[in-house]
Amino acid sequence: MNTDSTTPGATVEAYHRHSKHQPDRHAPGPGHLDWANQPDPFRTHAGAPLIQLPLVADRLTTAFDGLYTPPGEVPVASPHLASVAALLELSLGLSAWKVHGDSRWALRCNPSSGNLHPTEGYVVLPDLPTEGDLPRLEAGVYHYLSRDHRLEQRRTIASADRAAWNALFPPGTLLMGLTSIPWREAWKYGDRAFRYVQLDTGHAASAIRHAAATLGWRARLLTAPATRDVARLLGMLTAGVRFGDDGNTPEAEEAELLLLVEPSTTPWRPLGAAVEALADLAARGPWLGVPNRLSRRHGHAWPHIETMTEATVQPRLEEMPPWSPNLATPLPASANPSPAAALIRQRRSAQRFDPAATLAASALWRLLDATLPRAGAAPWDALPWAPRLFPVFMLHRVTGVEAGLYILLRDPRRMDELKAALGEALEWSPVTGAPEHLPFYRLRCASLEETAYWISCQQEIASDGVLTLGMLGGFPEGLTSEPWLYRQLYWEAGMVGQTLYLEAEAAGMRGTGIGCFLDDLFHQVIGLRSNRFQSLYHFTLGRPIVDSRLRTEAPYGG
Ligand SMILES: Cc1cc2nc3c(=O)[nH]c(=O)nc-3n(C[C@H](O)[C@H](O)[C@H](O)COP(=O)(O)O)c2cc1C
Repeated sequence: MNTDSTTPGATVEAYHRHSKHQPDRHAPGPGHLDWANQPDPFRTHAGAPLIQLPLVADRLTTAFDGLYTPPGEVPVASPHLASVAALLELSLGLSAWKVHGDSRWALRCNPSSGNLHPTEGYVVLPDLPTEGDLPRLEAGVYHYLSRDHRLEQRRTIASADRAAWNALFPPGTLLMGLTSIPWREAWKYGDRAFRYVQLDTGHAASAIRHAAATLGWRARLLTAPATRDVARLLGMLTAGVRFGDDGNTPEAEEAELLLLVEPSTTPWRPLGAAVEALADLAARGPWLGVPNRLSRRHGHAWPHIETMTEATVQPRLEEMPPWSPNLATPLPASANPSPAAALIRQRRSAQRFDPAATLAASALWRLLDATLPRAGAAPWDALPWAPRLFPVFMLHRVTGVEAGLYILLRDPRRMDELKAALGEALEWSPVTGAPEHLPFYRLRCASLEETAYWISCQQEIASDGVLTLGMLGGFPEGLTSEPWLYRQLYWEAGMVGQTLYLEAEAAGMRGTGIGCFLDDLFHQVIGLRSNRFQSLYHFTLGRPIVDSRLRTEAPYGG
């Protein structure tokens, strides 16, 4: 990577090129796995007061289709200890432990590249009242320790500041913050890890939005706050080491984003100034508890990740008002009658797929449809911008739909731009049998199983799945002047991935995110000839073959 890139935008473009996997050279990584120094997947804060959360998600009856219904259709829960517990359990909570021989590892509702989980979650609350026999939750900043389904109280608010703090929250709202510890991903993936960290952030944000829907809430990304204010509000370490090796200092956490969690019926209003005021109050400290060091030693430094973290921070901005898509057609109902909570908690990645399986065309239409923005539908109303990601599908075995290359124009206004970027040899023909409102086009007929296998770092799940896709992200010219858009593109890609994971479960299939792919080989297959679009994330879906050697245990001691 050319490290003398003079502007943040040039740094981003140089990093993106540098972190591509090529057929003869993967992006620079550590070369081997240093198991003795595998990072602890759980951040803890020794000495912070602990609040045990109840396990309540099983009691939520919202149907899976309730994730997509217009505001107000799911009864709005009032915020208190139990509803906050449900929000966390269904977004960042554990979903199972897996056991094989002497190894035991946790799975969570949110997936993560390599199951390394760089994302940490925080809740920022006003005083919340008691509910039944559950205690009140005191105003402050809390870290969610998913391992124990507990909150660690990192910040209390002094009584003199309490009224001012509480008044900054509109009625019925709270904030959720996401941070990342890049070391966890870089330990295994080296320079490409910055991408994975951002994808995981997007998955987690989407998981929060989906969980909020089960409570009649919504969650929306706050686009005004500066990354620095998010860091101040969440109490991020100022002295943490990113990849240092003094053996003592905890690894740094980087601020990513803030979501406003609010009743689904609340009208939009900007909140940037309130976040700055909250950050001012929180930054007065003191912060409770001492973060743990995750690895004894760090075998490598990853300076490009540090550079990228700095190049993509966001300054204070005007808050973007919501973008209202003009898509009146209702989403076709899911055939799966399970409650949303059950499908969210059974979400898993597959290790193997049945190569003989097929997908019904109706299930494909539903899957595509769920990635289209609709007012009030999770997770897309969490983002205030028109879609910037365009999935290009390699359909292998969908009944009644010819195998080949297809594109879903999540924002049909970008058609001419995409046509110009993708070469003239493509068909762009409407797909027979597809619902009229779906902007889904066939690019060419072909059997692409082998191609998908090679593109996906020789992973058989990509050829044995019924389909595999790459998500083309529009790399705006503005990346030069607004380099934080790079993070946002990856967040949106993670949200598409999370939606597909849940839709796969609802269709009786299984999804798997694919972070390991040969970028330019995919670009070549689809005829891409402009660097204004790049594939950011891949995904595959099929009928899983379950590994019976693994034992499954309950997430919380059940
Ligand atoms: C960003 C991202 C990239 C991933 N890349 C791959 C991949 O290339 N190959 C693969 O088999 N699984 C991949 N996965 C799946 C993870 O390995 C999986 O999420 C993790 O092991 C946790 O398991 P779970 O999804 O069942 O909870 C990816 C997941 C994410 C979120």
